[in-house]
Amino acid sequence: MKLAVSVILALATSSLALENGLMRTPPMGWLAWERFRCNVDCKNDPHNCISEKLFMEMADSLAADGWRELGYVYVNMDDCWMAKERNAEGQLIPDPERFPRGIKALADYVHSRGLKLGIYADLGNYTCSGYPGTTLDHIEQDALTFAQWGVDMLKFDGCYSDTSTQAKGYPRMAQALNASSHPIAYSCSWPAYHGGLPPEVNYTLLAGICNLWRNYDDIQDSWDSVLSIVDWFTANQEVIQSVAGPGHWNDPDMLIIGNFGLSYEQSQSQMALWTVLAAPLFISTDLRTISEKAWEILKNKLMIKINQDPLGIQGRRILQENSSHIEVFLRPLSHSASAVVFFSRRTDVPYRYTTSLAQLNFTQNALYEAQDVYTGKIRSLKTSDNFTVVINPTGVVMWYLYPTMHLEQPKQQSDTNFHPFAL
Ligand SMILES: *[C@@H]1O[C@H](CO)[C@@H](O)[C@H](O)[C@H]1NC(C)=O
Ligand SMILES: *[C@@H]1O[C@H](CO)[C@@H](O)[C@H](O)[C@H]1NC(C)=O
Ligand SMILES: *[C@@H]1O[C@H](CO)[C@@H](O)[C@H](O)[C@H]1NC(C)=O
Ligand SMILES: *[C@@H]1O[C@H](CO)[C@@H](O)[C@H](O)[C@H]1NC(C)=O
Repeated sequence: MKLAVSVILALATSSLALENGLMRTPPMGWLAWERFRCNVDCKNDPHNCISEKLFMEMADSLAADGWRELGYVYVNMDDCWMAKERNAEGQLIPDPERFPRGIKALADYVHSRGLKLGIYADLGNYTCSGYPGTTLDHIEQDALTFAQWGVDMLKFDGCYSDTSTQAKGYPRMAQALNASSHPIAYSCSWPAYHGGLPPEVNYTLLAGICNLWRNYDDIQDSWDSVLSIVDWFTANQEVIQSVAGPGHWNDPDMLIIGNFGLSYEQSQSQMALWTVLAAPLFISTDLRTISEKAWEILKNKLMIKINQDPLGIQGRRILQENSSHIEVFLRPLSHSASAVVFFSRRTDVPYRYTTSLAQLNFTQNALYEAQDVYTGKIRSLKTSDNFTVVINPTGVVMWYLYPTMHLEQPKQQSDTNFHPFAL
């Protein structure tokens, strides 16, 4: 009895800081939604419908094709995995035809390949696609069900619920997941339902209860969609940049690289921009048939190392050139390094952009090495040197930049900590 009471008290007092120790760097993996949506037609489209077969095959690909070793470890379900009704005990159950072995067996399968399984639920009367929702009275039960199945992550959507239900439900699910004693990373769609900005959205509260959250609209398979997300993230960077950090991330939504809507340059741009934003990297494409070019972009080791930088600082757009339509983004990294992205909004020809690190507000007079993240080419430059990058239309040039030497030593010499990037 005594034990039970102290557990309840502990939960009540820690309600706003349920640090679960997970996702110290942005999560990486695969998420079904953008590419596979709510395709439940396994009779006519057995290869692409939402079924255990799809998730097992994606797990096979992640494990067999080198994705897992790079950090892509989550295999995440989205809407439409459920049966249309809860069972007699009120529990969520998977569709029996599409998931005949059940979610526990799927989790075991995914775990046996060294991967983690993510699941989806919706705080509200129904999921967005009309499957059973998690109303307030089902929160503890559903958290326990997911924990018993061995699920490792929950995306908690917010269709068919009102503001007050969400204000109660999102923190309560965090508590319920914590109380289940099984570590389950928690992705909250909450801010996306309220315009993503204060005062409707309290990011201090979110950072205390969610590992990641969707700030803005769902991504679609188009460059316009990517741009609209980038526009929103830059327009509101003063608000959202500082709320990200180890264990709690802004989520601009899935990577659509490998699908139909982006050119090669645009695919490189999405990967580079998501990486400077310290965004989760959830691939939503068919890993069974992915092209060589998409594969190379998604598997770029230096890119992933930058995305996973242990400081976990989200980058910003630091310059918007209104005449040339070139933008510069910067993300501070560990060991005094930075990621710099030169992004072209032009739609004509490759643009020769000339600037210097001094013009980009680098104040330290130093010698730097700049490694092009896509070509691997390294150049040396001083802070004051003018340099030119050639940026393709809708594309990027991305640098991993690190100082190799101070040119004027500061008076009191401290450990300057200059480490070239060791891969
Ligand atoms: C959810 O269902 C309840 C009970 O039927 C209803 O009162 C409420 O308006 C519904 N909420 C939404 C957002 O649909
Ligand atoms: C629950 O929260 C406490 C306090 O932050 C933390 O130490 C613990 O690891 C959490 N447990 C789970 C299962 O998330
Ligand atoms: C946001 O949430 C935090 C943590 O719960 C709380 O301390 C703070 O007062 C809230 N801010 C606003 C503006 O409501
Ligand atoms: C470009 O325009 C924006 C918005 O009008 C402004 O904030 C920004 O400072 C301008 N950039 C430059 C380099 O002048």
